Formats: sequence, structure tokens, C-alpha cells
Amino acid sequence: MRVPVALVASFFLSIQAQQEWTYSGPGLVESDWPKDYPDCGGQKQSPINLQARLVRFNRSLKPLTLKGYEDDNLEFSMTNNGHTVQIALPPTMQITDSEGTVFRAIQMHLHWGGGFFELSGSEHTIDGIRRVIEAHFVHFNSKYGSYDEARNQSDGLAVVAVLMEIDEYAENTNYSPIISELLNIQYPGEITTLTNINIQDLFPGDTRHYFVYKGSLTTPPCTENVKWFVFQDSVKLSKAQVLKLENTIKNKNNETLHNIYRQTQPLNQRVVEANFPQFTDKCNSQHHPLHCCFCLRWISHGNGISKMRGSLLQLGCTFTNSLS
Ligand SMILES: *[C@@H]1O[C@H](CO)[C@@H](O)[C@H](O)[C@H]1NC(C)=O
Ligand SMILES: *[C@@H]1O[C@H](CO)[C@@H](O)[C@H](O)[C@H]1NC(C)=O
Ligand SMILES: *[C@@H]1O[C@H](CO)[C@@H](O)[C@H](O)[C@H]1NC(C)=O
Repeated sequence: MRVPVALVASFFLSIQAQQEWTYSGPGLVESDWPKDYPDCGGQKQSPINLQARLVRFNRSLKPLTLKGYEDDNLEFSMTNNGHTVQIALPPTMQITDSEGTVFRAIQMHLHWGGGFFELSGSEHTIDGIRRVIEAHFVHFNSKYGSYDEARNQSDGLAVVAVLMEIDEYAENTNYSPIISELLNIQYPGEITTLTNINIQDLFPGDTRHYFVYKGSLTTPPCTENVKWFVFQDSVKLSKAQVLKLENTIKNKNNETLHNIYRQTQPLNQRVVEANFPQFTDKCNSQHHPLHCCFCLRWISHGNGISKMRGSLLQLGCTFTNSLS
């Protein structure tokens, strides 16, 4: 069989042009991802900054149904893939969303910072605040037979995001099996087996409340087919656990993987919904109108009450005894 020379040449050229993607180099740096992966330059990219004032409270969004995560007799393979640590999950683990769509698990992985002293590394931010670590539990729509089939479909994927914070000295033993195995997968391509781990326990205590929006994979090819669920509640790890994660895993150049998160992307025309009203921590929405909750939040951010009181009253704010 004869193959035109030009075709062969362009085939090899395109292989050569495909650099390994990275966040800050060497390789295809974040700002250049769209050159090789056009979807990365799209209008519905992830992660985003979740801005409380723009989030739409939707009462009819039900909690996710989690199934199959609680099984603690399973073994999981955890690998260093050169970009992060990734744990393979079985398709028996599944979530059902508010509309009844079932998504099956395929893997979970982590994003972290650590590039400079105590630099945080979550991908999603809330009102501009970046958390320390973010875990992504990646799922595919069960109406497709496999992840590979689902990954190019417009309704193919759902990712559950868990934000993590530091609780100084309190070791989170649910995460200990992961942290203690990191040393065995320091180098890309290394694989280890996790036992005595319960995946359900990696989620925060409250899995009922979440933000939801339509976005993309946060790494190339940045496909815009991900229904994102970001839990409101967070997980706490000890400082020692965070430092181990940030300082153990190496990339293909034998450099420690730091700051493996993508910058937040424009929201554009999208709307973020939540199944909880904002500022529930500051007031009880059963007893206060929403604008009151807003006022309380404002005050709690350190604006002097007496100084602000006049203008807040003009805005229609009411005050409870404890604040006046
Ligand atoms: C609220 O969520 C439900 C369930 O997903 C959805 O059908 C409905 O369109 C949403 N409401 C609004 C106002 O977006
Ligand atoms: C999915 O799309 C990628 C390019 O984005 C392509 O390489 C791959 O072959 C596609 N897979 C399927 C199953 O269509
Ligand atoms: C990576 O670097 C360490 C120390 O800097 C060295 O001992 C090790 O051999 C290197 N490993 C590889 C795979 O290059």
C-alpha cells in the first residue's frame, strides 16, 4: 500500500507538535493550552470563582444520591500520572442528580498548591478565596457504556468537587491511607494499592448542599461537557498531611509538583445554582428575609455596625437584638 509522503510527514509533524501540557512549564503552559486543545479557549470553562451574590438558590434541587461509595472491603489502585495522584474508582460507585440522571465513577484525583509558603491550590474559589486542596470525583453518564464513550458527549460527565482546608494538628484519618502511600508513587508511572479506605469518608460531613453549574474538564482537552457539583461543606486535613501531599509527588522532569491548579475562567452567560440559600451560617432564612441575611453578612465582614446602621436601615435592613 502506498501512502502519500505529505500525509506521512504531516502525521509525524503533528506528533512532534504535541507537547506535554503543564501549568507553568517547561512544556505547553496554561495560557497556550488552546493552541493544541481548542476547547480550552471555549466559553464554558472550569474552574470558576463561585460568587455568592450571583448564585441562584433553587429549592427544587435535591441532594445527590450516593450509592456504592460506602463499601470498605475494596482495593484501589493509586497512580502518579505525572500531573497529579489519581485513584481508580469502580463503576459500581454512582451518583444520581436531581433530575434522576445516574453517573458512574471512574477516578478521583487532587489539585494542590504549595509553591510558596502556605500557598493554596484549590481550583474553584468561593468569593475569591482559594482553599488549600481540591479533590475531583470524576463520573460519566450511565447512559453511555464507558468513560471513553461518554467523554466526547455533551451530557457525558459529572464531577463532584470537594474543597479542603487545614485544621492545624487534627489528622484526618480518613485520608491517612492515601497520604501514607504517597512515598511509594513519588515518580510518574508508579502505582500503589490502597486498602482499608472508605471512599464515602473522603467526602465532607454534609453532602446535601452543593453549588451546581455547567463547565469543562480543568485540564486538556478541557471538554465542555461536565456538570459540576461543588459541595458547600469542606474537609479538614492536618497541616502535616497537607505538607506531605504538597512535597512528595514529582513530575516527569523530577521536579516536585506544586501549584497544580488552573486559573479561574470567565462565567460568561452561565448561571451557578445552589440548593441552599447563601449566608445560612449568619441567619436563619425562616425568620429573616433574604435582604436581612445580606445585611448581617455585610456587618460580619467588619464594617462597623453603628457607622453602617443608618445606611443599612435605608436599604431596608432589620436588626436582631444581638446585633443592635
Ligand atoms: C431548578 O432545578 C430544577 C431541577 O434541576 C430545574 O428543572 C429547574 O429548571 C431549576 N429552576 C430554575 C429557575 O432554574
Ligand atoms: C474524543 O475526542 C478526542 C479528541 O478530543 C479524540 O481523540 C477521540 O478519538 C474521541 N473519542 C471518541 C470515542 O470519539
Ligand atoms: C530524582 O532526583 C533525586 C534527587 O534529586 C534523585 O535521587 C533521583 O535519582 C532522581 N530520579 C529520577 C527518576 O531522575
